[in-house]
Amino acid sequence: MRLKDKVAVVTGSGRGIGEGIVMRFAEEGAKVVVNDVNEADANAVVEKVKAAGGQAVGVIGSVASRQVVQGMVDTAIKEFGTLDIMVNNAGITRDAMLHKMTDEQWDQVIAVNLTGVFYGIQCAAIFMREKGYGKIINISSTSAFGNPGQLNYAATKAAIIGMTKTAAKELGQKNVNVNAIAPGMIWTDMMKNMPQSAKDRIDQMLPAIMPLNRKGSPLDVANLALFLASEESQFMTGHVLFCEGGMKA
Ligand SMILES: NC(=O)c1ccc[n+]([C@@H]2O[C@H](COP(=O)([O-])OP(=O)(O)OC[C@H]3O[C@@H](n4cnc5c(N)ncnc54)[C@H](O)[C@@H]3O)[C@@H](O)[C@H]2O)c1
Repeated sequence: MRLKDKVAVVTGSGRGIGEGIVMRFAEEGAKVVVNDVNEADANAVVEKVKAAGGQAVGVIGSVASRQVVQGMVDTAIKEFGTLDIMVNNAGITRDAMLHKMTDEQWDQVIAVNLTGVFYGIQCAAIFMREKGYGKIINISSTSAFGNPGQLNYAATKAAIIGMTKTAAKELGQKNVNVNAIAPGMIWTDMMKNMPQSAKDRIDQMLPAIMPLNRKGSPLDVANLALFLASEESQFMTGHVLFCEGGMKA
C-alpha cells in the first residue's frame, strides 16, 4: 500500500475529481478527511470509504472560510493523529465572457478557488513545517493559460501555480513538498453542466486537439495525485504536472 497509515484532507471531495482522489487514497491505506459544501455528497463518500474497509470522516463547509479549513486540519489531527497530505481540490466556475462578467461572478470564484486554496496551503503548512513532513497538492487547470469565458477562473488557476512554487520554495527545507496538477477536460459534473453547444463543440474538436482523443476521468487525476502524495515523488517540488490527454503537448 502506497499511503499506508498516511492521513489526508481532500477539499471539495463530495463528487468528481475530489471523490476520485479520496477513493484512490483510501484504497492505498490512507485515512481521509472528506470535505464538501454539500453534506449529503460528503457523507455518501465517507460511507463509501467505510464500506470498502477504509477510514474517513466528513467536515462540511466552504473552503472560503478559514475556520472551516482549519477545522479540516484539526479534525485530521483529532481523529487520525496527524496530517500528511493536503489536497486543495475544491473549485467552482462562474463563466461569462469578459465584457459580461459581473462582480459577483468574479468574487465567488476568487473566494473559493483562490482564497480557499490560500487557506488550505497555509493551515496545512503551519502544521507540516513543525512536523517536518508533508505533501501539499493543489489543483490548477489548463485554463490557467487562458480560456474564453473563464477570465475569473483562469486568474485563480494561474495564481495557484504561483502559490505552489512560492510555497514549495518556502517549505522545502521543512521537508514539505508542494506540487500542482493541471487537469484538462475531465468528465465530471463541472464539464457535464456546460451548455450543450459548448459540449458539442468540444466533441467535434476532440480528435484534432487531444492526442489521446478522449475526455479524462477522475481516476486519471487521482492516480497522479497518488504519485504526488506518495514517497515516489519525494524529490519533486514546485512543479505543475499536466493531466490533459496531451492537449498541451
Ligand atoms: N472537470 C474538469 O475538466 C477540470 C479541469 C481542470 C481543473 N478542474 C479542477 O478540479 C477541481 C475539481 O473539479 P471537478 O471537475 O471535480 O468539479 P465538480 O463540480 O464535479 O466537483 C467539485 C466539488 O467541490 C465542491 N465545492 C464547491 N464549492 C466548494 C466550497 N466552497 N468548499 C468546499 N467544497 C466545494 C462541490 O460541491 C463539488 O462536490 C476543481 O478545482 C476544478 O477547477 C476540473
